[in-house]
Amino acid sequence: FSAFLTDSFGRQHSYLRISLTEKCNLRCQYCMPEEGVPLTPKADLLTTEEILTLARLFVKEGVDKIRLTGGEPLIRPDVVDIVAQLHRLEGLRTIGITTNGINLARLLPQLQKAGLSAINISLDTLVPAKFEFIVRRKGFHKVMEGIHKAIELGYSPVKVNCVVMRGLNEDELLDFVALTEGLPLDVRFIEYMPFDGNKWNFKKMVSYKEMLDTLRQQWPELEKLPEEESSTAKAFKVPGFRGQVSFITSMSEHFCGTCNRLRITADGNLKVCLFGNSEVSLRDHLRAGASEEELLQIIGAAVGRKKRQHAGMFNIAQMKNRPMILIGG
Ligand code: GTP
Ligand code: 5AD
Ligand code: SF4
Repeated sequence: FSAFLTDSFGRQHSYLRISLTEKCNLRCQYCMPEEGVPLTPKADLLTTEEILTLARLFVKEGVDKIRLTGGEPLIRPDVVDIVAQLHRLEGLRTIGITTNGINLARLLPQLQKAGLSAINISLDTLVPAKFEFIVRRKGFHKVMEGIHKAIELGYSPVKVNCVVMRGLNEDELLDFVALTEGLPLDVRFIEYMPFDGNKWNFKKMVSYKEMLDTLRQQWPELEKLPEEESSTAKAFKVPGFRGQVSFITSMSEHFCGTCNRLRITADGNLKVCLFGNSEVSLRDHLRAGASEEELLQIIGAAVGRKKRQHAGMFNIAQMKNRPMILIGG
């Protein structure tokens, strides 16, 4: 495996998350402030050609999974073409997308044809009125339609990301689990994380342990599934149900020890950890005509500075970072 993508703790970074846009057609409370965020001028965003140049370089060095994020990746007009071009990269085994699901039912047939292999859809409530409150826009039925389309087209499992927030949706855990009885979903309950502008506080966070207790009261037979390597999620299943439920425990039990992820922001920065603000502009070096070797040196130095966990911060709620919408998860 490439030395450039291996950090000082021996972690090999084979999973690259690329943000395709800073824009979104929703306004989720946990992701951005109501008034939105200042957007990068178009000329400073990565072009499709630059995205593909960087992807090619990372795949050559050993990246075998790319996930497209945003903002909302499905509002980038050439998203299907980007997937198709990534699909031609030898060595890339998985092309995933994390989407809010609004445009999914419409675009999925083309995306699948282009080579999209994995889909994660955000959905935090099963109550339409609450959906509008959390995401500050309409669209619940579109998202459900997207989820069903993904199942219909054979994606398995279809992952559903549910950010759990006390006082908002923690009363719906059992309803989400019940969805997995008949549908091949992986419902993933995510601990609410702090980012700039999302008004996080400790009391709004519902921990993995607490969620698991709630589930066990209803389904004592809940069974833990074997851990997948470098996964963000701990998986469980109610015996006999078609789907499964998982927990993403970034706050109460971080999984940094097996982290294999790097990120490229829409404005072209390499971000070696979801948290913290240690970033380097690959865009600027690309545009200055850096050679492949020079780019790899720059990437290698950034990866080499990666901290053991949570960007080296003890209290991630107090650090300066980007708002989630400008990172992509
Ligand atoms: P898979 O590729 O299907 O395993 O998905 P994923 O969990 O890596 O990505 P997804 O975009 O579905 O994100 C789900 C949740 O995990 C979001 O809340 C992300 O912010 C969080 N997440 C993704 N990658 C990381 C990471 O490296 N560190 C932490 N702490 N959280 C992450
Ligand atoms: N805490 C936890 N997860 C978050 N996501 C967005 N903001 C947060 C947050 N503050 C999740 C979304 C999306 C994924 C990319 O990140 O649910 O599915
Ligand atoms: Fe990796 Fe940073 Fe996430 Fe930990 S917090 S798993 S080091 S990206």
